[in-house]
Amino acid sequence: MTDGLSHAQVPAQDVLAFLSDPSVGLAAEAQAAFALGTVLGRDPEPHLASLADLLRRPSAPLPGRALATLVLGMALERDPEERMGPHPLAEQLGPPWAVLGHLVSAERITDPVDRALVLLGGLVERDGLDPRVVLAHLGDDDWQMSVGERALVLLLSAALRPPLAVDAGTFLGRSAAALALSSQRVTSIDWGVERGAHVTGLDRVDFRCGRAADVLDEVLAAHPECNLVVLDADHGAEGIAAEVEAVLRHPNVGLRAVVVHDVDMPSCRAGLASVPWDDRPQVRGRSLDFISGTGGTGGVALLWVASEDPTLPT
Ligand SMILES: C[S@@+](CC[C@H](N)C(=O)[O-])C[C@H]1O[C@@H](n2cnc3c(N)ncnc32)[C@H](O)[C@@H]1O
Repeated sequence: MTDGLSHAQVPAQDVLAFLSDPSVGLAAEAQAAFALGTVLGRDPEPHLASLADLLRRPSAPLPGRALATLVLGMALERDPEERMGPHPLAEQLGPPWAVLGHLVSAERITDPVDRALVLLGGLVERDGLDPRVVLAHLGDDDWQMSVGERALVLLLSAALRPPLAVDAGTFLGRSAAALALSSQRVTSIDWGVERGAHVTGLDRVDFRCGRAADVLDEVLAAHPECNLVVLDADHGAEGIAAEVEAVLRHPNVGLRAVVVHDVDMPSCRAGLASVPWDDRPQVRGRSLDFISGTGGTGGVALLWVASEDPTLPT
């Protein structure tokens, strides 16, 4: 897998060549939108309106729409603050939280998936991440997550550049691989010893075998620097509640983002409902339906957790 931490700017013709490769399997419209944005992302002004139109087209299938928003994000990269308007949390949060503040702001772009993609596009361009690598991650169907949910995971790791990200529920390792794009280290946890072994070439990922809640307790106690956690292991009510409580027991010093997947599953939802949120002051923000699922499965809750800084927003 290409090293996502490399910062070389990719020449437009390389991106075009990648998109023309039939094995990439993107719809023509999506290819056109992405290619347009990649080429024009460096001089976007005259084209922002038409890109925004593409984004609004109701008939656009999700991949096309997703790519159009990613493109728009790339076009916005030079100053997302200025172009998307100042965010009320920007002063309190500081970078990268100022950028992430936009994630919870519905002022300009109402759909959370679109917001995640726009910001992801911005960070791809700002940080010189290889857009082909990011697209390959977004488009890989080995994930157990939807495109929008994948974008959120990629966005959070690109924004936070975690010293350590923790991924509960390895399965085929797709979320671990995505987190490894922008994280210095990733710990990925699963019951099954053989699961993590499906993933090769991920030298920044440590695979841990065991009950997710127990391993989370151990890893987060030892690593307060972890600022991103993805919970996608146990979807039973008791299991997910135990995982959330393990994360809250060891909050880090700054803000930590916690993604909980499959909140549309009734058992997962019941588990989250059983957490006594009002007695957990370390939870500075929570959106239990941040991205909607497909009825019975999928869907993402997003929590912001912090321990020590009283100036952070509640
Ligand atoms: C939905 S899959 C994870 C998918 C992965 N995050 C992705 O997006 O590619 C859930 C995984 O969690 C593991 N799992 C379920 N309950 C667990 C538990 N209590 N502790 C550890 N692993 C668990 C399962 O073995 C399975 O591989």
